[in-house]
Amino acid sequence: MTHDVQVIQEQTATCECSEKSPVSAVTFTPHTNEGKFYPHILMFCCNWCSYAGADLAGVSRFQYPASVRIIRVMCSGRIDPAFILEGFRRGADGVLLTGCHIGDCHYLKGNEYTRDRMVHVKPLLQIIGINPQRFRLEWISASEGRKFADIVKEFTETIQKLGPFELKE
Ligand code: FES
Repeated sequence: MTHDVQVIQEQTATCECSEKSPVSAVTFTPHTNEGKFYPHILMFCCNWCSYAGADLAGVSRFQYPASVRIIRVMCSGRIDPAFILEGFRRGADGVLLTGCHIGDCHYLKGNEYTRDRMVHVKPLLQIIGINPQRFRLEWISASEGRKFADIVKEFTETIQKLGPFELKE
């Protein structure tokens, strides 16, 4: 796991935006205001579908909570389960992984690898004491701006019900 965490750091170090915000992409600040809980959700979007869906939600002015911090990757297949654990370690209350629908991946089978790999994430979270509801995998196409907004809203409500994530959970 330590090795994979280093991969994240190498990735951020070579990213164009890293000069402006070195590690803040997955570092969260406190999330309560006047007693109300505002969850922090780490969201991975693939470049070709779900990120375009986020764009469409924006230009269509679909309302959704400002709870998500998006990291764009070229394909959902880039995401290692260790990245999800690292998100929790850095203070995310929930992690949302999104990609193209099965059959639509621009790298053909990237999302199939994601699907097969992520089957193990919820049981793993359960074993290490993290409520599996804090993780979700969804497929969102570039034309599904409404779906993007609905998923973010629904997942945010789920995390709000669960409350802030604490490692001893
Ligand atoms: S390019 Fe979107 S999941 Fe592979």
